[in-house]
Formats: sequence, structure tokens, C-alpha cells
Amino acid sequence: MADEIVRQYVDSASTTGNVTMNVWRGDAGGGGFVEYELEAKEGEVVLDVIHRMQATQAPDLACRWNCKAGKCGSCSAEINGKPALMCMTRMETLPTGEPITVAPLKAFPIIRDLVTDVSYNYEVAKRIPSFNPRPKTTDELKAGGYRMAQIDVERSQEFRKCIECFLCQDVCHVIRDHEENKTTFAGPRFFARSAELEMHPLDVTDRRAILREEQGLGMCNITKCCTEVCPEHIKITDNAIIPLKERVVDASYDPVAWLGRKILRRTKASAAEAQATSLVSGPPAVQPDAAVRGIPTAVGE
Ligand code: SF4
Ligand code: SF4
Ligand code: FES
Repeated sequence: MADEIVRQYVDSASTTGNVTMNVWRGDAGGGGFVEYELEAKEGEVVLDVIHRMQATQAPDLACRWNCKAGKCGSCSAEINGKPALMCMTRMETLPTGEPITVAPLKAFPIIRDLVTDVSYNYEVAKRIPSFNPRPKTTDELKAGGYRMAQIDVERSQEFRKCIECFLCQDVCHVIRDHEENKTTFAGPRFFARSAELEMHPLDVTDRRAILREEQGLGMCNITKCCTEVCPEHIKITDNAIIPLKERVVDASYDPVAWLGRKILRRTKASAAEAQATSLVSGPPAVQPDAAVRGIPTAVGE
């Protein structure tokens, strides 16, 4: 059905001329760019041209897509070297008169053609302690729900716009150029997820130690490349990573906080308090599944 709608729309548009597309073809064993020359029509996006290519010249070309509306996050690729959604990249925004390259995401293992294995990201997601709201107050129990100030709600809401396209993960040099960092670096998408939870007005889990010790927040050197490619315009660096870094620094190096932790540790010696701690500590960190392709079991292995 979706294919039919696309075909009708594309057929009804006027032809603007031929384009040369250099599309990466191959699999985990190797591959290279293959040149295709085909027509492009007014108003088309790169995904339209890829679909025409599949319909006319390359029926076995593998690519992921679903919504064609910038919402499912599945058509991520590298277009002229830049990570972008194929369904949201208009042909007219690309330089005319020169070939357009379409390649799979470089940071993830190739499955076939434009399709990569992004399971690394789901393994990282498992390591983030989930939402852990505080108990309701007596007033809230009576009212039947939590009460939150709108300003507090909005702070974490920005990060809920994420469509998990993983373009930010792909562009981040910490993993793009260093496969070995995948076990120790969560990546921008998951810093945004941690920020969403850390800034949630109800959540009581403290994720700062995990961010510092297991998720490599300190390895981010704030280049802002992730923010630049985000199709949802989430200010990953300014609104997620930098505030998280500040929180981690406060928790780790602030002498007042250090003294506070010392005192707190002593007062938490009782069994009752130990039980209270378990309410806020969240599940233990899960290490990535070594069987997942592209994830070494430890740095240096
Ligand atoms: S700002 Fe940090 S997380 Fe974002 S791309 Fe740069 S190094 Fe990676
Ligand atoms: S934060 Fe933006 S770039 Fe990263 S996965 Fe989410 S939507 Fe994509
Ligand atoms: S097809 Fe859904 S984001 Fe492109």
C-alpha cells in the first residue's frame, strides 16, 4: 500500500532530469560503490530515487525504511558523506551535476548494502537504569496521580522526541573511529536518554556513577557533531551532555558533596535505610552481549 502511494506520487511529478547515484553495494565480506543513472523528479527525496532504483535497475538493493516521514528512524544512511535520513533529504538540496553517494552508516557492522546491524545501540540501552519514580505523597494518592511543575516536565520532554535513527551515534568519533570504545561509551543518543531520566522530576535513581564509570561520559569532548545531525533538532550536547557532565563533576569533585556523601554513608548503615537505597538504585548495569556482532567483549580484545 505504502509502495503504491509512493509510486503514484512520484509518477505524477514532473521529471527534472537524470541523476547519477553512487550506492554502496556489498555485505560483511566487502563491497564498493556501484553507479546508477536514473531520472529524478521534482520534489523527490533520496529515498524516492532509491525506490525507483529498486523498481527499475537494482531489485535486490537492500535498504531499511518504514514511515517515509522522518518518524521511524529506519532509513538512516550517509548521503554525500553526511549521516542523514534518506526520506528527509530532498534531492534539490544536494549539489547538481555531480554524483550523489549513498552509503551505509559507518559506525555499525554491515548486513547488506545500506542495511547495518544497529544492535549495539539496544545493548547500550539495556545498561541504563530505567525510570524509577518516587512514591506518591499522601496528597497525590488522594488526587490519584503525581503532581509536577510544567517547567520540570518540559526539561526532559525534549529528549522524548528521539526517533532512534542513531545518526548521532554514527557521527560520534568516539565510536565511529574506535570500535574498541563500544563497550565503554554509551554515545550521544544514550546520554540524551540518561539526561531525560536524570532530569525527570519524579525519578529518584542516581545514574551519575554509571555515566562516569561505565558509560564513558568523560570521553565526549563536546564537538557537537551529534547535535548537528539530529533530525529532531535535539540539543544533545548543550541540553543533555553538558548538564550531565556538570552533575557528574558535582557528584565526584565538589568537596561539600563529598562531605555530604561521607555523612550520608554513615547514616545509611541501618537495615531500614539499606532497604530504602534499593528503591533508588535501579537495576544493575548489564554488560553488552558479546555475541552481538561488532562488540568486542572488552577494550583491547
Ligand atoms: S559532542 Fe560528544 S557525544 Fe556528541 S559527537 Fe561529539 S564527542 Fe560524540
Ligand atoms: S538523538 Fe537525534 S540523532 Fe540521535 S538517535 Fe535520537 S533522533 Fe536520532
Ligand atoms: S523512513 Fe522513517 S525516518 Fe525515514
